[in-house]
Amino acid sequence: MIKVSNLSKKYVGKSAVDQISFSVDQGEIVGFLGPNGAGKTTTIRMLTGYIPPTSGTAKIGGHDIFSESLLAKQKIGYMPENVPLYDDMRVREYLLFRAELKGLRGQEIKKNMNEALELCSIKTIKSQMISSLSKGFRQRVGLADALINKPPLLILDEPTNGLDPSQIRSFRELIKELAEKHTILISTHILSEVELICDRVLIINEGKLIGNNTPHELSEKMRSSTTINLEIKSHDNNIKEDISKISGVKKVTLEKEENGWKFMRIRVDYGNDLREEIMHLGSKRDWLIREIHFQRSKLEDAYIEMVQSKSN
Ligand SMILES: Nc1ncnc2c1ncn2[C@@H]1O[C@H](COP(=O)(O)OP(=O)(O)OP(=O)(O)O)[C@@H](O)[C@H]1O
Ligand SMILES: [Mg+2]
Repeated sequence: MIKVSNLSKKYVGKSAVDQISFSVDQGEIVGFLGPNGAGKTTTIRMLTGYIPPTSGTAKIGGHDIFSESLLAKQKIGYMPENVPLYDDMRVREYLLFRAELKGLRGQEIKKNMNEALELCSIKTIKSQMISSLSKGFRQRVGLADALINKPPLLILDEPTNGLDPSQIRSFRELIKELAEKHTILISTHILSEVELICDRVLIINEGKLIGNNTPHELSEKMRSSTTINLEIKSHDNNIKEDISKISGVKKVTLEKEENGWKFMRIRVDYGNDLREEIMHLGSKRDWLIREIHFQRSKLEDAYIEMVQSKSN
């Protein structure tokens, strides 16, 4: 359904998306995960034909997003980041306007609109002014807009952004329901979201694709190791190197530094509790240690580790 090859986007002097390649098969729900500024929206804007790539290609349902942009766009229901809606329209008017813009005519408009209103549970607010809607309902209207021409592919850019936990939960249920009939690419920076609904996770960081796994593979990756969290103070410049030399340590990362305290994450082989060895070394080196904590790894660690490995 989506095939992306070496897609890049450079803004003046800056690379926002750098040679990414991936594909999404029909029927999949794929999460597009990455921290702020990673390049998610830029990639999505290229896929939906809103901005041209600097290089590389993308195909939607076999159609090139540039040479066959109309055919490609017809296959996509796009819900942009911070759904732009017309505040001075009623929900029904807005969806009618959007349906016409997307080329729907006659009875089809009414039929599709009713189905979209039903699916997104916004029938009761169809006569309300958009300006009077709560954030959650605005998101639903944005989704109804994306759905109105019944596209096989939905591309949703941070659809749960700004929703409260119960709204997020019901939005998630809705997306699961939509997955029965649509292929879905959903961008988010919330890991738990992809874990709960996605078949596969693409991880993007600083414009580069650094992961393409099932949630299960990601947690398996982490199961092979455990983390020790350490808070340490010392003028010694070799803490990281010295801890790295302890047998069984896989990786040491400096997370942050505050008032002279260094917060470090130490990856060790699964279940290998090296706290004693670290404390022993600490007392030899005169390090001040105020916390050392042995932690089983979670999926989140896999993600954070992948995203941080470049910058540390
Ligand atoms: N129009 C633009 N002009 C210049 N730089 C831009 C433009 N749009 C985005 N960028 C830069 O490109 C990079 C990627 O931005 P993008 O919006 O794609 O990130 P994102 O992953 O969607 O982040 P977020 O989670 O905050 O939405 C950022 O460094 C951003 O500052
Ligand atoms: Mg974005």
